Amino acid sequence: MEIKSDFLIIGSGIAGLSFALKAAKFGNVSLVTKREKWESATFYAQGGIASVLSAEDSFEAHIKDTIEAGAGLCHPDIVEMVVRDGPNRIRELMEFGASFSKRMADSRAKDFGVGVNNIEELDLGKEGGHSKRRIVHAKDMTGQEIEEALLKAVKAEGKITIYENHIAIDLITHSKFIEKLNGDTCWGAYILNKKSGDVHTFLAKGTILATGGAGKVYLYTSNPDIATGDGIAMAYRAGASIANMEFIQFHPTCLYHPKAKSFLISEAVRGEGGILRLKDGTPFMTSYHPMKDLAPRDIVARAIDFELKKSGAECVYLDITDKDPAFIKTRFPNLYEKCLSFGFDITETPVPVVPAAHYICGGVLTNDCGESSIKRLFAIGETACTGLHGANRLASNSLLEALVFANRTCIKAQGLAAKDAAIPRIPAWRTGGAVNSDEAVIISQNWDEVRRFMWNYVGIARSNKRLDRAHRRIENLRAEINEYYWNFTVTSDLLELRNIATVAELIIKCAMLRKESRGLHYNIDYPETDDKNWKRDTII
Ligand code: FAD
Ligand code: SIN
Repeated sequence: MEIKSDFLIIGSGIAGLSFALKAAKFGNVSLVTKREKWESATFYAQGGIASVLSAEDSFEAHIKDTIEAGAGLCHPDIVEMVVRDGPNRIRELMEFGASFSKRMADSRAKDFGVGVNNIEELDLGKEGGHSKRRIVHAKDMTGQEIEEALLKAVKAEGKITIYENHIAIDLITHSKFIEKLNGDTCWGAYILNKKSGDVHTFLAKGTILATGGAGKVYLYTSNPDIATGDGIAMAYRAGASIANMEFIQFHPTCLYHPKAKSFLISEAVRGEGGILRLKDGTPFMTSYHPMKDLAPRDIVARAIDFELKKSGAECVYLDITDKDPAFIKTRFPNLYEKCLSFGFDITETPVPVVPAAHYICGGVLTNDCGESSIKRLFAIGETACTGLHGANRLASNSLLEALVFANRTCIKAQGLAAKDAAIPRIPAWRTGGAVNSDEAVIISQNWDEVRRFMWNYVGIARSNKRLDRAHRRIENLRAEINEYYWNFTVTSDLLELRNIATVAELIIKCAMLRKESRGLHYNIDYPETDDKNWKRDTII
């Protein structure tokens, strides 16, 4: 089947849905998403969205905090643009129907009263690296509030067709011989309907990658299962420029419990006074950074890693027991209940935590309007590398980035719908001689192997030797996975495996290129930051 639209959006998180709502005013929109429409990293976001909304704060302070966290690689023009546009985008999100927590007159109040429409009344939280309170949140379930509000708005809009359980396989690029000198043009993507097994050709005048992050490349991650880096891998295969893949953010505090799947304990807990302690109760962040427990994330995650390696302990502890239990239960109801379900009452005992892969600062290289290096191909949200985060993202800046770039990208792309574009004739998907696999065990074996060696060799602290080992392994695995891909009928598991292997290879390559330590990339063989040679993006 061939489906033609003005805009093809791949992904239904905050980036894809916000873009869809805007683009629907200019043309028809198809949005494909590989599971149920709500399933996304966005849905699980806890802390909130960073923006300057109080008289005590300033754009200059938010810009400074972002640039300091980014360890010399943020693009100052992009930081300034995103920070200054923040309040407009928060207002717009509230107009779409999202409601956020209201400031409490009394810290023992019963409810954080999600349902505020007036920006002046918002409760503003604090997180690592922020010098001021500026995190707009809906208790500790900010992402769920945003995702549900956007999905409702999309439904009400009525002109956006959502295809659930449809996974993009690869982008369709094409150029006439005469245009070849100017590079390829993207005209859509081949998409697998997971239920029927059919592959459809989705053609569009503009294709928007909003496929989120790649946490599943690592054995331990706060990310949901959808985070397999598909957009980055597809763009790379299509020939787009990819940047800064070595900068993987590890969130310092994920619940340490065999059944908790690295459940995130929001940085907002430390923002409200939570303290990291060793098993014997010693607070240790005082020796690592003047901001102590609220230092930027790279510093806190590395400090925990160092302490764990030094003592051989399996976890450290996050302690918020000093706070009034009523406050904890109303400010963090989800965290409280979830921890309780694993046997930890956070109002009474410190909770065991470890770092886990959380966010990818690199991705598809874009300009300030979301344009990739391939014509008619755009990238927004966590899939993109816009220059905002540099070598380390400031907490709660990613939801903000997704909103700002969805808006700017739509302004840039809207004209594509109006113009008649001669979409070239694209052949339908051909299965060739592929047959159904009789060896699905290869998928689970390789899936496990990639994620494990990425965790052990390309984690918080790296070395030349470990990177070399990882490189050798990924080359072998990629060859094996490719052979499997060409011989057998595509399934969603196979596509995701192929993508995590591609993203793993990109992370390893970028990490090998950067011969220094900076932000989230720490190599024990080059422990110093080398501004003279390396104050620049790594572009592949
Ligand atoms: P996502 O929300 O991840 O959406 C990606 C979409 O793409 C999904 O719908 C997925 O199914 C779809 N998709 C992927 N591949 C394909 C494919 N091949 N075909 C079709 N569809 C595909 N950031 C903050 O700023 N503040 C926070 O408080 C915060 N808390 C977080 C808490 C957790 C637990 C996690 C995991 C992340 C958190 N982050 C937070 C990061 C933030 O949530 C993400 O960076 C952001 O939501 C990404 O939005 P997105 O729209 O780019 O991608
Ligand atoms: C958190 O709530 O700690 C996550 C915030 C983020 O990743 O920005």
